[in-house]
Amino acid sequence: MKIFVTGMCGYIGSHTAVELLNQNYEIVGLDNFSNSKKETIDKIKQITKKDFKFYEGDMLDKNILTKIFKENKIDAVIDFAAYKAVGDSVKNPIEYYTNNVSSVLNLLKIMKENNVKTIVFSSSATVYGNPEEMPIKETTKTGNTTNPYGTSKLMVEKILKDLYESDNSWNICILRYFNPIGAHKSGIIGEDPNGIPANLVPYVTQVAKGKLEYLKVFGNDYNTKDGTGVRDYIHVVDLAIGHIKALQKLENEKKGLYIYNLGTGKGSSVLDIIKTFEKVNNIKIPYKITERRDGDIATCYSDPSKAQKELNFKVQYNLEDMLKDAWNYEKNSQ
Ligand code: WQD
Repeated sequence: MKIFVTGMCGYIGSHTAVELLNQNYEIVGLDNFSNSKKETIDKIKQITKKDFKFYEGDMLDKNILTKIFKENKIDAVIDFAAYKAVGDSVKNPIEYYTNNVSSVLNLLKIMKENNVKTIVFSSSATVYGNPEEMPIKETTKTGNTTNPYGTSKLMVEKILKDLYESDNSWNICILRYFNPIGAHKSGIIGEDPNGIPANLVPYVTQVAKGKLEYLKVFGNDYNTKDGTGVRDYIHVVDLAIGHIKALQKLENEKKGLYIYNLGTGKGSSVLDIIKTFEKVNNIKIPYKITERRDGDIATCYSDPSKAQKELNFKVQYNLEDMLKDAWNYEKNSQ
């Protein structure tokens, strides 16, 4: 099967490309390098010893999408290409809705024109807003999102649902990620955000490396075990494998629209992350408690049972593995 991977050089895209190639899928990649690096292409080839076609371009450019579908017999699409910084989305809503929603409309139009109707879509736990129940199930109410990033993901989920309602020959899997962290065991690819990291773990690894002076802990007055924010951290390689499981579901079972949480079901606080990182890597992480960050919620972790049951998806890595691998990547990178 030939899989078109949009945003292939990004954090999740690159790790999924490795797992796809490891499982002998053929892939065609696309990236505009807005939040990734060109050298990731060769890193994926270095890890897998496999070759693949790659196109540099933007999902908002219909011509590049038309060209890709004309030059390659695509069987399915995994769509990662999106901006994903919550804080940034609050400051730049037009860019976020244009990039995250219009690009998917372009993609779906070209897929339909080429009669390619199988897609795995990268969504996010932010579609649950401030969740009304914990742990979060796929049936937990979505909406009341607290930022344009989360709202853009919710909009695309609605587009996909309406598309499926209009034509049941589409085959769609929506994956709602919790908090992906860690890196490929080789240390060759990992989370490498442009600029100062918005997310916790890449910020911690840059403090460990001495690139940043100390970690700001955004509030310790939440209603959680130690007052700091609790999240469901999942190893990025586990997350990548979850995409293979989703593809296999779409390949082997009746056409449909499926939605799965991809998480571990375990909640870890910011202080848990600091303590665990210090323990497994034997490095002190200086931190200061500061004000809460706008848009943050106290607690967010998944009930992963639906993906376990229907995708036969079980995570292999624990928090110690994730933080060891995250540091291993940071140590090896510039
Ligand atoms: C985690 C915890 C912060 C940074 C977002 C998106 C989600 C996904 C992952 C794309 C929170 C605290 C953080 C720091 C801190 N993105 N924190 N100091 O906000 O849970 O999720 O990123 O797929 O969709 O919503 O992740 O890593 O930013 O924050 O104290 O410097 O760490 O308050 O409790 P978040 P995060």
